[in-house]
Amino acid sequence: MLTFLHISDTHISGDPEYHPPWIPEYVPHPNRGAESLVTAIDQLPFEIDFILHTGDVCADPHEADYHCARELLSQFRQPVFMLPGNHDSADYMQAILHDGAKLQVLRDAHLEVKSFPLITLDTNGPGDVHAPTLRDKQIDFFADALDAAGDQPTIVAMHHSPIETGVPWLDDHMRIQNGDRVQRILRAHRDKLVGVFHGHIHQQTASLGDGVLYICCPSTWSNLSGYPGLGDGVADPLTPGGFNLVMIRDGRSFVRRYNLPLLRR
Ligand SMILES: [Fe+2]
Repeated sequence: MLTFLHISDTHISGDPEYHPPWIPEYVPHPNRGAESLVTAIDQLPFEIDFILHTGDVCADPHEADYHCARELLSQFRQPVFMLPGNHDSADYMQAILHDGAKLQVLRDAHLEVKSFPLITLDTNGPGDVHAPTLRDKQIDFFADALDAAGDQPTIVAMHHSPIETGVPWLDDHMRIQNGDRVQRILRAHRDKLVGVFHGHIHQQTASLGDGVLYICCPSTWSNLSGYPGLGDGVADPLTPGGFNLVMIRDGRSFVRRYNLPLLRR
């Protein structure tokens, strides 16, 4: 049995004035959301084995952002596993956030947590940063790691999603371009997969494809929309930041969303 929290897209910034022009006026500084997350998790009335952060830890690949992130993420009592997102610098993450114990940065990695395999992919491949193409050697690594995991219930995590949703903006501009190759590997291992946990699209979603469950959790900063016919990124002002509780019991996954307070400037 395993209990973890899925968090994503905190976009922590070391710039106190950070507010990029494409973000609506009402959206507060991202650190307010991250602080609210730390408080909410600290108050949970149950034990957590670890926290999984599926990327965009920081707003920009700037050194100061990672010092700020370290200060915030160090406040968690639980181990934090972090993946780089398209806004991150994997080098700064490794140099500033990774301590090899409580804070661990994972790229293409395969580890075991309480005997559950956790397989991660750094999906920041070549091409469009929002819709990258994974390299052959990463896809080979992923296939080998899933083979090596045996029959154990296995958790998979990545920043970008490989699966089509039917929402044009998500499918055309926010998805791994050669995601079909990733999906083929996942499909072959579907009987043992707990789920594929991802971020990037800043919204709570669940997709079921070929018997594999794909879950995205909300950003703690600003959330986006997803609906039929949507061709571009559109803010969702009604959705507060949040995170997901994931419970694995006897090979079953139970996922519950937690909302953070709706923050406004
Ligand atoms: Fe993001």
